[in-house]
Amino acid sequence: EESPRLYTREEVRSHSSPETGIWVTLGSEVFDVTEFVDLHPGGPSKLMLAAGGPLEPFWALYAVHNQSHVREILAQYKIGELSPDDKAASILKTSDPYADDPIRHPALKVNSQRPFNAEPPPELLTENYITPNPIFFTRNHLPVPNLDPDTYRLHVVGPPGGQSLCLSLDDLYQFPKHEITVTLQCAGNRRSEMTRFKEVRGLEWSAGAISTARWAGARLCDVLAQAGHQLSETEAHVCFEGLDSDPTGTAYGASIPLARAMDPEAEVLLAYEMNGQPLPRDHGFPVRVVVPGVVGARHVKWLGKVSVEPEESYSHWQRRDYKGFSPCVDWDTVDFDSAPSIQELPVQSAITQPKDGETIESGEVTVKGYAWSGGGRAVVRVDVSLDGGLTWQVAELDGEEQHARKAWAWRLWQLQAPVPAGKKELNIVCKAVDDSYNVQPDTVAPIWNLRGVLSNAWHRVHVHVAP
Ligand code: HEM
Ligand code: MTE
Repeated sequence: EESPRLYTREEVRSHSSPETGIWVTLGSEVFDVTEFVDLHPGGPSKLMLAAGGPLEPFWALYAVHNQSHVREILAQYKIGELSPDDKAASILKTSDPYADDPIRHPALKVNSQRPFNAEPPPELLTENYITPNPIFFTRNHLPVPNLDPDTYRLHVVGPPGGQSLCLSLDDLYQFPKHEITVTLQCAGNRRSEMTRFKEVRGLEWSAGAISTARWAGARLCDVLAQAGHQLSETEAHVCFEGLDSDPTGTAYGASIPLARAMDPEAEVLLAYEMNGQPLPRDHGFPVRVVVPGVVGARHVKWLGKVSVEPEESYSHWQRRDYKGFSPCVDWDTVDFDSAPSIQELPVQSAITQPKDGETIESGEVTVKGYAWSGGGRAVVRVDVSLDGGLTWQVAELDGEEQHARKAWAWRLWQLQAPVPAGKKELNIVCKAVDDSYNVQPDTVAPIWNLRGVLSNAWHRVHVHVAP
């Protein structure tokens, strides 16, 4: 094999526009990615930030690139190596944008360290109806901002002719304080079961990307009213912007329909307390949105700006993610504009005890888990099977009394049942029914989608019975 072509840093730097071609480096290798720019799943503009220079500082922010398939794509574009004199300079140590992230609870099962994504283990998840703050699942897309509560301001854009608000924390405390129990679930909860069926893109969540807290804060409808907003036909969405941002300065953002935001019965909160404490940093200190019954992605943390717009948020996470598709759609055919953004989530349940693969005692088995549905629909029943779905028993529901159309929180459930005599193994299954009689699909195959969201098939756990 012939020796690789060598380039200087200077030569690489001069290839940073479509006219000259787009080159990047990783370690000492040089790549011409001109052809790839428009194919980049994270968008051309993000890739262009690294044009003519090293990828490391950007990939340090987006650990999604830490996968072999990403390296394989890049390898196809290799054109040579940096000349030896320039190699040393390429091991340029950059400051870690995540260095200031908070310290986390060691019990959390970490799916990604940077950005931080972690879930409580099943054996802790349903120990308490209210999830303790330190083990509440965490889903961050970016570094956690470190905000000063004294200088924090929330900007609420007023309507034409109305009044924009710039609210301090003390200003927010002046609105009537509203407290509700709400379950938050990520659209990617139980994604790993979809991955096992067929590969998807996304973090490998087990069944713990869901947690429940008592949230307190000002009602969004009260704050919007103070700014002079009313229900309107031309401006139909409330857009939220976080104070966490990527290297381009793009903030995390999402939106919800104005009708939900303005409905006092929908109880959308600008929350500043979680289980009686100020919000922990990972969960949005000092203020986050809580949208009962709606997918976690819309509960914007570290809230900086609220505006009412004719269109949904233009954020990547509103328009290019958190949408569901047919199993037949792949990354070559997907048209994100063709599907609505996920808002209310479908009915969900999962088993947290016993654990998959565990050996249980013969005699009696206790099966425990959670059940929840979106849009305030109450869970009315959980069915459990010990024989893979041939026969069923009804589990006992625990948890708070639920209000009609405002069942914002999960029910925990359990079933104590004799282990059928002579069985060496059990295939335990659960499925929930909500008050619209929505049920969970029995298998993953018909609901599989390329992003691995909305994974709510019957949850199955296989256990051995001790002889
Ligand atoms: C996603 C490749 C440069 C930001 C991805 C993915 C690939 C990829 C294959 C999809 C990964 C997956 O979901 O499994 C590349 C290559 C690059 C490059 C080959 C250089 C030639 C960059 C740069 C940035 C960036 C410089 C940021 C400044 C992102 C983001 C996503 C992403 C934000 C996630 C999009 C999403 O969540 O769907 N990239 N990337 N990429 N990339 Fe890059
Ligand atoms: N808000 C901001 N500003 N940045 C984020 O990365 N992640 C969203 C949402 N709000 C996110 C955000 C997603 S996808 C989810 S599921 C929830 O926050 C998770 O909230 P938690 O970390 O408090 O559990």
